[in-house]
Amino acid sequence: MAYLSKNIYSITLKDLLFQPYIQILCYPKPTIEEAENRIKELQNLNVFKIEFFGKKEVSGLKILGKGCVGIVIKAYFNNKPAALKIRRVDANRDSLIYEAFMLKKVNEYGIGPKLYNYTKNFLLMEFINGQSIVEWIKQLTNKEKLKSVLIKILEDCFKLDEIGLDHGELSRANKHILINNSDTPIIIDFETASEKRYASNITKICNFLFFKGEIALKINEVLNVSLNELYNALKIYKKNKTRENFEKILKLCNLKA
Ligand SMILES: Nc1ncnc2c1ncn2[C@@H]1O[C@H](COP(=O)(O)OP(=O)(O)OP(=O)(O)O)[C@@H](O)[C@H]1O
Ligand SMILES: [Mg+2]
Repeated sequence: MAYLSKNIYSITLKDLLFQPYIQILCYPKPTIEEAENRIKELQNLNVFKIEFFGKKEVSGLKILGKGCVGIVIKAYFNNKPAALKIRRVDANRDSLIYEAFMLKKVNEYGIGPKLYNYTKNFLLMEFINGQSIVEWIKQLTNKEKLKSVLIKILEDCFKLDEIGLDHGELSRANKHILINNSDTPIIIDFETASEKRYASNITKICNFLFFKGEIALKINEVLNVSLNELYNALKIYKKNKTRENFEKILKLCNLKA
């Protein structure tokens, strides 16, 4: 075990067989057999070091995040920091492979954290050092920064609509958009994404950003958005998802002249 600073320390793979680390590897109900299999998967992924870092905690260990499907921790891959999503043993899906395919696909369009590698139980991807969109907007004082972040989010969502891939969870964008330390937004978690469902990324994200989300009021105050007009423009866009109709949305949100 190597201490980097108070509460941030790293371990190697063999430590993962023991408490409290096994609790992260096989959350929430570990068994030695499952842990041994998962350690082999990590060796195949070339992950040999894990670091306990992040704003969330499990069993007293710092982690990057926790959801219904995975525990996300900081790991090292080729000596570079990475984010490792570990499938929970009680997840309602038996593999992360579908999520890996979806992420790989959106990466082709510059969307999402870069996927480095994957196995049944792990997704190894670019580490986003930043915060959730809600935390970021709450601290924000600079209007231009807000505009460039919102433009990038909306452009990514328009691209997803264009390629017919519905993210599926953008109405809960507080959990699914991270802003990195260079103020770039990144959409995460493509496990419920679908190419079969009708793609409604723009409608969902606009609903979160301008109408319903906990930061909608602040965004509307800064940008002075006319919600009635935006509502009508979204209805038109929904019927006909063209670049022209998308540009009208950007204009109404005062994001483009
Ligand atoms: N690439 C990453 N870099 C940094 N942190 C990340 C990364 N991916 C995920 N996280 C953190 O981990 C959390 C959980 O990740 P994710 O949403 O993929 O898990 P999940 O189990 O599918 O969650 P949910 O149940 O909310 O759908 C995120 O909200 C985020 O805080
Ligand atoms: Mg998820």
